[in-house]
Amino acid sequence: MTVTEPGPLPGGPLSDEWGTESLRTRVAELLERARARTRVLTEAVDEADLVAQHSPLMSPLVWDLAHVGSQEELWLVRDVGGREPLRPEIDGLYDAFQHSRASRVELPLLDPSEARAYVAEVREKALDALGASPLRGRRLVEQGFAFGMIVQHEQQHDETMLSTHQLRAGPPVLHAPPPPAAAASPAVAEVLVPAGPFTMGTDTEPWALDNERPAHVVDLPAFRIDAAPVTNGAYAAFVDAGGYDDPRWWSERGWAHRVEGGLVAPQFWERDGDTWWRRRFGVLEPVPAAEPVCHVCFFEAEAYATWAGKRLPTEAEWEKAARCDPSTGRSRRFPWGDDEPTPALANLGQRHLQPAPVGAYPAGASPLGVHQMVGDVWEWTTSGWHPYPGFSVFPYPEYSQVFFGGDYRVLRGGSFGTDAAAIRSTFRNWDHPIRRQIFSGFRCARNVEPGSGPEGA
Ligand SMILES: [Fe+2]
Repeated sequence: MTVTEPGPLPGGPLSDEWGTESLRTRVAELLERARARTRVLTEAVDEADLVAQHSPLMSPLVWDLAHVGSQEELWLVRDVGGREPLRPEIDGLYDAFQHSRASRVELPLLDPSEARAYVAEVREKALDALGASPLRGRRLVEQGFAFGMIVQHEQQHDETMLSTHQLRAGPPVLHAPPPPAAAASPAVAEVLVPAGPFTMGTDTEPWALDNERPAHVVDLPAFRIDAAPVTNGAYAAFVDAGGYDDPRWWSERGWAHRVEGGLVAPQFWERDGDTWWRRRFGVLEPVPAAEPVCHVCFFEAEAYATWAGKRLPTEAEWEKAARCDPSTGRSRRFPWGDDEPTPALANLGQRHLQPAPVGAYPAGASPLGVHQMVGDVWEWTTSGWHPYPGFSVFPYPEYSQVFFGGDYRVLRGGSFGTDAAAIRSTFRNWDHPIRRQIFSGFRCARNVEPGSGPEGA
């Protein structure tokens, strides 16, 4: 099945100037765009594949499908729309907190045709609620927030389902054109980010989630950050230099995990003679050297950085490098500015089913000249998962708050599997440091040595 071209989002950023009708139109387009993606991912395989568990790390695809409908029903049909529950008896089955991913295959789930009928009925009622809601007067619906939250939720599950596709065995069922070639590589390998304050997080992004709020000033010393994500070629040099055999490069915990998990290279890589190959959505192909490395866990990223004489960036460093415009001191919505992503700016939306080579998106670079911060691969940071100062729960604690302080590391920037509606420079993702079935890569940073010049140049 060919992956459809989602196209850029219409218009600029949401703001108070949007009239209610144009906001409704946009919400409806985004809901349909998410659903089109969900259809691609759930219609590309047969029924047996939909109900199967392809990995204990993942739900059966048919669970994701009905869960997307269940969340939409809870928020848009019951809460915003004030309607009676459609299927109250299934609420518990699709509550992510009641059942681990590994156990969901055992549940009496809706079968594929029931799940499709359910999500279609929910969508019809959600669109009724959209038509009836004034989209103001109550924080949950102000500027379409609840609808934006559900759009992002479905798109997040679409990325999760894409990970399930990557883990399933068998011939390829998803197809997409290759990403663009490198047009202009970064001028330098590392960029100096000058010392000083910047605004992290947001108060103004209408659909930002609670964990991205509030905006607050963070003052950082100068640091250097890689102008592009670490490539497969660079990472292969680490592997080939015996990086997985030398505990010097690994944290104690990382080394223990490397040994226990038998890690020898990124997930889905295998060596044949002198060549590294990878399996990508059922296709076995030589690992492309210029592409950002993908499917590495936090501990692997950390070990590479140590081997390279660097470190991983903190979350604040990542965001400053992505957003800060030193000429104005302003923080942008995206590295390239405030406009929505387009196919020329970033590799998003499952438009291509792999990261693009370094240098493929020169127009998407940040003012400081940092490339490919949004799209391609999620980037591990050293930061744990914590609330910003002044955090308040909205609209429910199970989105972010219950995870704060857990065994997680923050990832930033989205991947080729992330839709534009579910990413921005303030967006925060988190996962366990051992996870690598996600589309995760990284870039390195390092301190500016004292006495190396007025700006550390
Ligand atoms: Fe969910």
